[in-house]
Amino acid sequence: MKVTTIGSGYVGLVTAACLAQIGHDVIGADIDKDKIKQLQAGKVPIYEPGLDEIIAANTANGRLSFVDDVPEAIGASDIVFITVGTPPDENGAADMSYVKAVAKTIAENLDRYKIVVNKSTVPVGSTVLVAKVIQENLSERREFDVISNPEFLREGSAVEDFLHPDRIVIGTDSQRAAGLMNELYKPLNSPIVITDPASAEMVKYASNCFLATKVSFINAIANICDAVGADVKEVALGMGYDKRIGFEFLRAGPGFGGSCFPKDCHAMLSIASDHGYDFELLRGVMDMNVRQKNLIADQANKMLEGLKDPRIGILGLAFKPNTDDMRDAPALDIIPHLKKDNRKIVAFDPVSMDNAKKLLPDGIEYVSDPYEVCEKSDLVVVLTEWDEIRWLEWRRVKEVMKRPVVYDTRNCLDPQNLRRLGFTYQGVGR
Ligand SMILES: NC(=O)c1ccc[n+]([C@@H]2O[C@H](COP(=O)([O-])OP(=O)(O)OC[C@H]3O[C@@H](n4cnc5c(N)ncnc54)[C@H](O)[C@@H]3O)[C@@H](O)[C@H]2O)c1
Repeated sequence: MKVTTIGSGYVGLVTAACLAQIGHDVIGADIDKDKIKQLQAGKVPIYEPGLDEIIAANTANGRLSFVDDVPEAIGASDIVFITVGTPPDENGAADMSYVKAVAKTIAENLDRYKIVVNKSTVPVGSTVLVAKVIQENLSERREFDVISNPEFLREGSAVEDFLHPDRIVIGTDSQRAAGLMNELYKPLNSPIVITDPASAEMVKYASNCFLATKVSFINAIANICDAVGADVKEVALGMGYDKRIGFEFLRAGPGFGGSCFPKDCHAMLSIASDHGYDFELLRGVMDMNVRQKNLIADQANKMLEGLKDPRIGILGLAFKPNTDDMRDAPALDIIPHLKKDNRKIVAFDPVSMDNAKKLLPDGIEYVSDPYEVCEKSDLVVVLTEWDEIRWLEWRRVKEVMKRPVVYDTRNCLDPQNLRRLGFTYQGVGR
């Protein structure tokens, strides 16, 4: 089938590459000319495991191409995905201006029946809104369907998630569109939930808010564990075996971050309040998330008490491993708290240092060797559980650190081993 994705960011690129991988002819479009130039030259502008390989393979076999001419890309396809950003506006609601701009361009270039697929995360009612914008901007009568198809991929395992989804959700009242979407996704062999557009839009927000709730819940449990002398990792393990609870998203740490959870929680609150509902529970989840980051920063500061001009080492900056995405990463909140009194901070991340430099305060030293971070620090704070950090030779780290103190905010290290080696180890809730 002939498919176009409009917006070649994390979701658009992965969608385009994976749809080509399962046999469709795909054009990835974006108004960012530099991004498209890079892609045309075979350079993938984001870090996502496995993405470079499938983009290279599918551009080579002719099933995938990239253009900055969005009208041309719309004209060439029968299914057009909207995959542009929906960042929070000043009130926390999703900013729909990019989606609306794309809808207008689609209307201006609608030459035959097409399905317009909203894959961006959008408020309930957006399928209707996009259809209205298209209708208002058509110069002559044309047939089209707008459907909702929220995306659940996780950065860091996006290709794997897209190719092996737990489920695909399609929101449409059109039999014709439902049939074609079924055909599009058939090679994935995944359960497909076909529902009305409003429910499909709600599934996405409800899922992310629920996962954020699990994170804040386990962080609260971790803080109580600290007080009562329990180990939150053991508690989560014991809870996770219960099928009603599950193991996922029960890892205590510095709070949730990334481009989706904080934004989608804000948007959900805004949707609720627009409809006169006070989603008190979700407000608590978000407050807890802010408090957790402050608590982590306070604890790190406490671990430096009594030291003159302490030096702090940061291992990991991205909001999670296997991504270069720094949007809403806990590091962005925690590091400024540690940087007070012009303290020396030295940091390492395997892939996100260039992005981090644009967002963090000046005066941080970035190094490409994690051992150098340790050598130059009185306290090492692990902020992201990259394999490159977990599996450091901690014996060697101990040798290079004058003051071997580690704050493992991801509970990704082995406390017994570190203590045996002579470290002072602090985790979260253990
Ligand atoms: N990143 C994730 O993990 C993830 C997961 C699920 C859903 N989502 C949702 O998917 C959407 C996209 O997120 P993302 O992280 O890929 O965003 P992104 O910022 O990485 O990419 C958006 C792209 O859209 C392009 N763009 C903007 N306006 C355009 C226009 N008029 N025409 C063509 N291109 C245009 C931008 O240049 C950019 O390249 C958001 O709604 C997000 O909430 C994201």
